[in-house]
Amino acid sequence: AAAEKGGYEHFMLKEIFEQPEALKSAIAGRIKNGKPIISEIKELEEFIKKDLKKIFIVACGTSYHAGLAFKYFMNRYSKIDVDIEVASEFRYMNPHVNENTLVIAISQSGETIDTLEGIRIAKEKGSKVVTISNVFGSTIPRESHGAIYMNTGPEIGVAATKTYTAQIAILYALGAKIIEITEGLTEEIEKILSDIEKMPEIYEEVLKNAEKVKELSREYVNYQHMMYIGRGFGYPTALEGALKLKEISYIHAAGYQAGELKHGPIALLDEQFPVFAIIPKDSLYEKMKSNLMESRARNANIIAITTEGNDEIKELTNEYLFVPEAEEALYPLVIAPIIQLFSYYVAVLRKLDPDKPRNLAKSVTVE
Ligand code: G6P
Repeated sequence: AAAEKGGYEHFMLKEIFEQPEALKSAIAGRIKNGKPIISEIKELEEFIKKDLKKIFIVACGTSYHAGLAFKYFMNRYSKIDVDIEVASEFRYMNPHVNENTLVIAISQSGETIDTLEGIRIAKEKGSKVVTISNVFGSTIPRESHGAIYMNTGPEIGVAATKTYTAQIAILYALGAKIIEITEGLTEEIEKILSDIEKMPEIYEEVLKNAEKVKELSREYVNYQHMMYIGRGFGYPTALEGALKLKEISYIHAAGYQAGELKHGPIALLDEQFPVFAIIPKDSLYEKMKSNLMESRARNANIIAITTEGNDEIKELTNEYLFVPEAEEALYPLVIAPIIQLFSYYVAVLRKLDPDKPRNLAKSVTVE
């Protein structure tokens, strides 16, 4: 078993550290010199060009958070309407999908029952379905019109890590391809794609912070709650950070759009309820800064992730981590390893096994 873990103490840690390689395989042959190549949707290109009016993303758990990052991406860079719903809601509502809708299902395992039933409903309503999955030949991609496999290698840890970042990278490439077909690529989008090509090296840098993350995580082992806040592209990261923490450390955590603090969540904050702020130097930085100061005024302990060189953070909190500067849309990718490491170390310090969290399964094939 030790050999399988490649010298790491747990599969989760191994998979976090595999992200440079995993991301490289995920985008191999899919992004080249800033251009998207998604041969898996070749047969859908006519449909996308002529009939596509709306994209609907269906997914669960971590895959849903990758879908949310994609929604922000499409909202910023295209005119196409994008809707998103967790699969267990999608399948029991009256989803507004039809023959002009492209449903994108995201499922690491390819077997999640709610997502599977969701795409069956979408197909009955005449939609085209493309699935992003990590398990070759699994049910959801088999039942879809197009299947994009992540190629990250198997993920053993129950909490998704490397497949989350692979999903985001592939979704951005897929989104760029759809934009290329419908509206035409822009230099901005090409820049993002070429930066994704550099992400494996960026990850090597980000992962060098592991020891620092471990040190900081010690301060948070004994809390019962944690609030993750972010805005824009930082919001999916806040949700994913909170999910990772509750999954493996059993600390109650929630992710909020920072602007919603004043509508309720801020009432929770005090010295017993710390805040994890996703605050990169992006277009919403000043807004996030106010939210951070509001939280500090309630005596909440604050850990912040921000962009390298933003020394102002030192005036806002003592506990912070830097990530390399990136395009706004890429912060969900750049920050992911940090929130994963944080929850990993908190779980391990709490003497829990992050690979096998209680009550959770890697693949949820029953309702
Ligand atoms: C389970 C796993 C999660 C995962 C979710 C969706 O709850 O524990 O890590 O995000 O299912 O799984 P899928 O395979 O559909 O991405």
